[in-house]
Amino acid sequence: MQVITTKAEIRDAVRAWRSAGETVALTPTMGYLHAGHMALVERAKAEGDRVVTTIFVNPTQFGPNEDLSTYPRDAERDLAMLRDAGVDAVFMPEVAEVYAPGAQTIVETTELAKMLIGKLRPGHFRGVATVVTKLFNIVQPDTACFGEKDYQQLCVIRQMVRDLDIPVRIVGVPTVREGDGLAMSSRNVRLTPEDRAAAVVLSRALFQAEEMARTGITASRLRAWVAAHIQAEPRADLQSADIRDAQTLQSISGPLTAPAVILLAVRFGSVLLIDQRVVTP
Ligand code: PAJ
Repeated sequence: MQVITTKAEIRDAVRAWRSAGETVALTPTMGYLHAGHMALVERAKAEGDRVVTTIFVNPTQFGPNEDLSTYPRDAERDLAMLRDAGVDAVFMPEVAEVYAPGAQTIVETTELAKMLIGKLRPGHFRGVATVVTKLFNIVQPDTACFGEKDYQQLCVIRQMVRDLDIPVRIVGVPTVREGDGLAMSSRNVRLTPEDRAAAVVLSRALFQAEEMARTGITASRLRAWVAAHIQAEPRADLQSADIRDAQTLQSISGPLTAPAVILLAVRFGSVLLIDQRVVTP
């Protein structure tokens, strides 16, 4: 496995594969890897001849009061996991390699970036869209895999690829969960034991809502039920509970007629957890 820190070297590696007729699949991450990330790697192996994983804690997607400085990191462990999984190259640049001083170009999905998580985290999706565009331009993969767990992020990336004619095929990968249902996240390690136990409320609410969606309930009643279920857990500080069209993320309120996505953002202490489930009527 090649461990690469410069744009020039990752370009050389990919160029060599391409000239041998091989395809390349990319899995962008911020490191501190868990089984969710590894599911993306496995999918990438099935989608392309060569797999590139990027590890880059992207400063531009963190707000001034967010957890950039405390974001968990463990490069040695990450590299061992990626080596065991058979990744061909890891691109792990320093911030200065990615962002040159004086850079002024941004990528923003104007509507999608403003709603839902974009309201809670202003500027977040602009940072994501800009860095993912840069990673696509640096690595030039045929395919890139992203988790459905970050559902709005996946929608932002699909939209941006469509709008800007970026020649990358986007693959969404289902959420990998802990035994009790909690969606795996690098942030879970920062939960206190009590909050970790209480956090199961997110997936429980989503799985029950999935059953209820089959009973002909309206979107607004389903949303209200999910919100009340979360709020019944005293440790959970509900930031948002939404039910949206699964394709467009537009609001829906009446009877469910097409696949819808339930999106949750819940704070436990200082840790913001998100989870999601697509429900079909
Ligand atoms: P990060 O949070 O490290 O996640 C990297 C990828 O792993 C994302 O596509 C995310 O959706 C996926 N992922 C995380 N938890 C998962 C789980 N439990 N099951 C399946 N997939 C999961 O998302 C980012 O980094 C960044 O915003 C990034 C896209 C790398 C841009 O900086």
